[in-house]
Amino acid sequence: MSQRYTITAALPYTNGPIHIGHLAGVYVPADIYARYMRMQGADVAFVCGSDEHGVPITLKAKKEGITPQDVVDKYHAIIKQSFLDFGITFDNYSRTSAPIHHETASDFFKRMYEKGKFLEETNAQLYDAEANQFLADRFVTGTCPKCGFEEAYGDQCENCGTSHNATDLINPKSAISGAVPSLKETKHWFLPLDQYDAFFKEWILKGHEKDWKSNVYGQCKSWIDDGLRPRAVTRDLDWGIPVPVEGADGKVLYVWFDAPIGYISATKEWAAREGKDWEPYWKDENTKLLHFIGKDNIVFHCIIFPAMLKGHGDYILPDNVPANEFLNLEGNKLSTSKNWAVWLHEYLEDFPDKQDVLRYVLTANAPEGKDNDFTWKDFQQRNKSELSDVLGNFINRVAVLTNKYYDGVVPTPNAFNEIDLKTLEKLRAYPAVIGSSVEKYRFRESLNSLMNLARLGNKYLADEEPWIRIKTDEERVKTVMYVALQIAAALSVLSEPFLPFTSEKLKDIFKTESLETIGWNDVTTQEVLLPSGHKIIEKAPLLFTKIEDAEIQKQLDKLEASKKANEAENAVAEPQKETIGFDDFTKIDMRVGTILEAEKVPKTKKLMKLTVDTGIDTRTIVSGIAESFTAEEIIGKKVTVLVNLAPRALRGVESQGMILMTEDTNGKLVFLNPDTDGVKNGETIN
Ligand code: MF3
Ligand code: ZN
Repeated sequence: MSQRYTITAALPYTNGPIHIGHLAGVYVPADIYARYMRMQGADVAFVCGSDEHGVPITLKAKKEGITPQDVVDKYHAIIKQSFLDFGITFDNYSRTSAPIHHETASDFFKRMYEKGKFLEETNAQLYDAEANQFLADRFVTGTCPKCGFEEAYGDQCENCGTSHNATDLINPKSAISGAVPSLKETKHWFLPLDQYDAFFKEWILKGHEKDWKSNVYGQCKSWIDDGLRPRAVTRDLDWGIPVPVEGADGKVLYVWFDAPIGYISATKEWAAREGKDWEPYWKDENTKLLHFIGKDNIVFHCIIFPAMLKGHGDYILPDNVPANEFLNLEGNKLSTSKNWAVWLHEYLEDFPDKQDVLRYVLTANAPEGKDNDFTWKDFQQRNKSELSDVLGNFINRVAVLTNKYYDGVVPTPNAFNEIDLKTLEKLRAYPAVIGSSVEKYRFRESLNSLMNLARLGNKYLADEEPWIRIKTDEERVKTVMYVALQIAAALSVLSEPFLPFTSEKLKDIFKTESLETIGWNDVTTQEVLLPSGHKIIEKAPLLFTKIEDAEIQKQLDKLEASKKANEAENAVAEPQKETIGFDDFTKIDMRVGTILEAEKVPKTKKLMKLTVDTGIDTRTIVSGIAESFTAEEIIGKKVTVLVNLAPRALRGVESQGMILMTEDTNGKLVFLNPDTDGVKNGETIN
């Protein structure tokens, strides 16, 4: 029997599209792992889906004046498409609003409830009297009780990663109304994590010290050492899965209770479609259950979900939880709300055939042990000096020379010399070298090994110089090209988990599909991958094309624009000026007027000479607005005029007053004009 794997990737929240941080932290590593295991002949269920409940979705719906279902329908479609586009090979991509999930999560809760696995408690929770709503999770922010971060959420602090109860926050504030919450009694069901203390000490602290990543183990240890406390698994909310017991009207399951059960629902849905039995994937002790997640999800996958699985009683526990740290973008934290991100659907608009370049860069630079930074320069650079100069160059040479010397037919080699034998021996070691890194979740290292195989090919060609030897020793060149072709064929296979689109192209170039399928381990066990006499493609397409400076600049400009927009949004208004008396105010005479004529003052950048009907008279006013407007667009405009300002000369033109203006977020001037035509010129403003 082949080894069975249930591989899960964190269900993305469906309140926005997904960006490179999601891909780098979770989905690319999970996909590499799943593809690799399938190539090993393992029995794999790779599942994911949209996480469609929770507070951020309801907040977004409220803000946009649509229903939460509208929000998730929109983003579910976008997210699902992005995964397809980037070659993420989920066996099933489900969603938590699906009936099968509601049923599975509901049954899960009922079973635990019937087994007496919850505490039922009525106690005081934060309440927003203005909004008429209990505040938990993202509905409330305040100071983190652990690290003092002032913008911590009710369920978790994004600064230190701790998860807590909303009532633990210092100085809580409602995210709906900004009000200081009061306390109000309500009943909830709690998962008594403290009762699992001994289990966690045994299972994680003793059992997984060696095989879990140190960042994951470290976080778990710190929570267990701090002392586990009961956690509410229900909420007062109208969006989610209704709590399936008596006396729970208006309450739903906590999103972090229902979402991980989504992995089970997704497996069920898949099995039903494939005519398989889902149960061994979740209940057979020999199955390896693996959760791919980002670091902010560690407590939920290592503590809360396992406690649920254990409390329920029928399920296996995760074998490993290979969580990654965070990816930053150009030195700043990725942020959906600040639009500081590279959105996958937008990336594909700009780089429609470069999915593998992004997969490559995100893996080469993956935040495996610590946070890491994505920069566009690095992206451009790696595309050139690694993908193009190393892998692309090797393949191109092999394909071009084989066509040039042998009309695209793999030649018959002569006796191998020492160098050939060494090279072939090294080649045969690669599947194990790359594979063992993948099995240890060291994806950067595994990708680097793959590239080393291409480097081996390049070095071999550079040393043997077939393009020079062809003039003196045709027989030797046959052997050299034969060896190089074997390396190229191996690359077409071993690149598949990492660069699936490139792997497809390589298989087309070397026409491996017409041979018996070459598997991962065949690279080690088969003497020959591409036999003599086998014909390859006549004209190989370029694998990696240059990314121009202008394309990179465009991306940087996009980010710069986000930054500007954010600054403008967060800009604080200038402090108020000194107080003036009412008499001072009445001295100011402001009138409604109309611009009759406008012309630029010659030899100035900003100045415009305006003729204005003030209702009192028609006068000349010089105004510094020429950078924001053309004369044509302002003639006829109603404006506000300060009429009793002492006249002064500007560039030789006497200005008799001032037009009132303000500035928009881009620094463009805006007139303060009465927005109705019913106001007559000369009307006073006070
Ligand atoms: N939606 C969560 C996030 O994006 C992850 C949920 S993972 C699951 O952080 F286990 F709950 F499914
Ligand atoms: Zn904190």
